[in-house]
Amino acid sequence: MRVDVITIFPAMFASPFAESIIRRARDRGVLDLRLHDLRDYCTDRHRVVDDYPYGGGAGMVMRPEPAWRAIHAARDGARRGAVLLTTPQGERFTQKMARELAACEQLVFFCGHYEGVDERVRALVDREVSIGDYVLTGGELPAMVIVDAVVRLLPGVLGSADSLAEESFGPLLEYPHFTRPAEFEGMAVPDVLLSGHHRKIAEWRRCQALRRTLRRRPDLLAQAELTAAERDLVERWRTGADEAD
Ligand code: ADE
Repeated sequence: MRVDVITIFPAMFASPFAESIIRRARDRGVLDLRLHDLRDYCTDRHRVVDDYPYGGGAGMVMRPEPAWRAIHAARDGARRGAVLLTTPQGERFTQKMARELAACEQLVFFCGHYEGVDERVRALVDREVSIGDYVLTGGELPAMVIVDAVVRLLPGVLGSADSLAEESFGPLLEYPHFTRPAEFEGMAVPDVLLSGHHRKIAEWRRCQALRRTLRRRPDLLAQAELTAAERDLVERWRTGADEAD
């Protein structure tokens, strides 16, 4: 996958994109990452990327001309892809969107700043994306979050397919994990995990995932595919009729 990021702060991306799994994806040639400094697409001597808003008011607006040139320079029309604008006004980023974006051959991120981007830039944008209902200082951290969530889904990036299949947002939360020692600070690992009984372990994990999801994120249970027995169990927990694990 090719990922182009248009930003006024390209240096922010150096460390997050040079470590761990993203680095491995780049080393393996799965990810071709290109950073574009928006100021390089200015034609004025002072390389100004923002201007005052028409109509007055607080804050500055990102100018359309450098944004337009940068997006045209970055987007490779021969690749199936999307231009994304990171903004708190966008559609909420989810694991489902990460899967959709992972099917693209190119993603171009335009990192928003100031009060916003000149409205006409939106003519070149396919999706506006927010990573949550809070306001950050700019669209760089959201672009990093999205790239991270998408790249780890690309074939050949993670070690085993299992870790993708079993993880959270499948759509249940994950069951509790333990490693050695079997007892730590007076807290013991559940016996079933030491039993070597694979079917019982799988049942315990499923049960824990259901309980955890009910307690922490009941909204996710509505989308989960549960067996009739599991729905029954959840209903009994919900009504307090059954307190057992
Ligand atoms: N820019 C500022 N805040 C943001 C957010 N929550 N998501 C995406 N872009 C942003």
